[in-house]
Amino acid sequence: MEINLCMGCMREKKQPGPCPHCGFEEAVYEPSPHHLPPETVLNGKYIIGRVLGEGGFGITYLGWDINLELKVAIKEYYPNGFVTRQFTGSGNTVTILSGYRTEYFNKGLEKFVDEARRLAKFWGLPGIVAVKDYFPQNSTAYIVMEFVEGKTLKTLLRENNGYIPAAQVFDMMRPVMESLETVHEAGLIHRDISPDNIMVDVKGRVKLLDFGAARSFITDSEKSLSVMLKPGYAPEEQYRSRGKQGPWTDVYSLCATMYRAITGEVPLESLDRMAEDTIKRPSELGIVIDSHQEDALMKGMAVFQKDRYASIEELRIALFTKPEPEPAAIENKIWPETNVAPQTWAAPTNQTPIVQSATVPSKRNIWDEAYGHNEALREEYIKSSEPKTKKESMLHKAAEMVEQSGQKLGRKNLWDEIYGSKNGS
Ligand SMILES: Nc1ncnc2c1ncn2[C@@H]1O[C@H](COP(=O)(O)OP(=O)(O)O)[C@@H](O)[C@H]1O
Ligand SMILES: [Mg+2]
Repeated sequence: MEINLCMGCMREKKQPGPCPHCGFEEAVYEPSPHHLPPETVLNGKYIIGRVLGEGGFGITYLGWDINLELKVAIKEYYPNGFVTRQFTGSGNTVTILSGYRTEYFNKGLEKFVDEARRLAKFWGLPGIVAVKDYFPQNSTAYIVMEFVEGKTLKTLLRENNGYIPAAQVFDMMRPVMESLETVHEAGLIHRDISPDNIMVDVKGRVKLLDFGAARSFITDSEKSLSVMLKPGYAPEEQYRSRGKQGPWTDVYSLCATMYRAITGEVPLESLDRMAEDTIKRPSELGIVIDSHQEDALMKGMAVFQKDRYASIEELRIALFTKPEPEPAAIENKIWPETNVAPQTWAAPTNQTPIVQSATVPSKRNIWDEAYGHNEALREEYIKSSEPKTKKESMLHKAAEMVEQSGQKLGRKNLWDEIYGSKNGS
């Protein structure tokens, strides 16, 4: 087969020498001896290109789907340190190093396959890289994934002086949270969320890579735990052989990743935080961040599981639900009278308003924001027969005025806003 694709980017290349698109030059490319060489054909339908990355238990290659003529990413189960590769005439077989038991390798392989099968069922989830195919070969196995055209969050941060505005980070990560909730419901935990396992595509959409069922097996068995963990992103329970892991483990890593993206700093390692927690809140580092979102972020990064959100759903709700302002805070903001909504917190644009009511006027003011949707509280203020505060007395007066005149006040008037929503008009 004549291959005229660049093995560095899988685009067509007419001439030998460096690729005009990406500069990759196969003649000078030196893969590690245990990597599959470029142009290797797998399963009769995929061409292996350059190595995209290598972790403790797998090698990820750029690939080409010959039939569909499509770029893919192919992950090979290759628990480094357990195995070696024999380049024989018949193939690139992976063999287990002497001294290591075949059963460990096989168990990891089983997990790898199981993870591929489970992930494949989440096809279409926006925040997770899609699994397209799986096949065994070379005494190991391969997972074929959609190729995400973009860069890792780690690279993106490097190019952005190390950090991204907080509101943008939360907004960007929301689809990942929603997708993770679905994945967690099916009993799959990522266990290694970090900036280098997050791809940001050319449109700014974010996808999680590198689910680690196989990793859990290896960490549980032979390899030193700490070698596999990313300092700053792994919660304390991952350092303990009996640490109870679950969705809250991903809550920690996800928040640590967002913390890194918001502040430009890798969070302190969880083990150090256990001894003495000197972690700084983003605002203490001079970062502009909504205070309730900051609270949610820091709770997601609580050192101990008991203080953390138990699920991504809890974290997402805390991050994106605006809390009821304290009455005292309203008191301060409302006087002198204003009809302009305070811009304390901008909901991400792709988000459905948290409280939606047909009766809520579009021109919102503080009351509408704070109490417009809270029937009980509104009633309480309106019915208050003995107003204690200025706010209460004004509300009371407004109630009387409406009752006497039998009609509503001006459209933009504060009281109109209150009664307009109350009367359902
Ligand atoms: N589906 C994909 N599309 C594009 N690039 C990918 C894809 N999967 C992995 N990569 C690249 O390969 C690197 C390593 O892949 P990853 O799955 O994280 O494995 P590991 O961390 O075990 O090496 C990633 O950081 C990313 O740069
Ligand atoms: Mg990775």
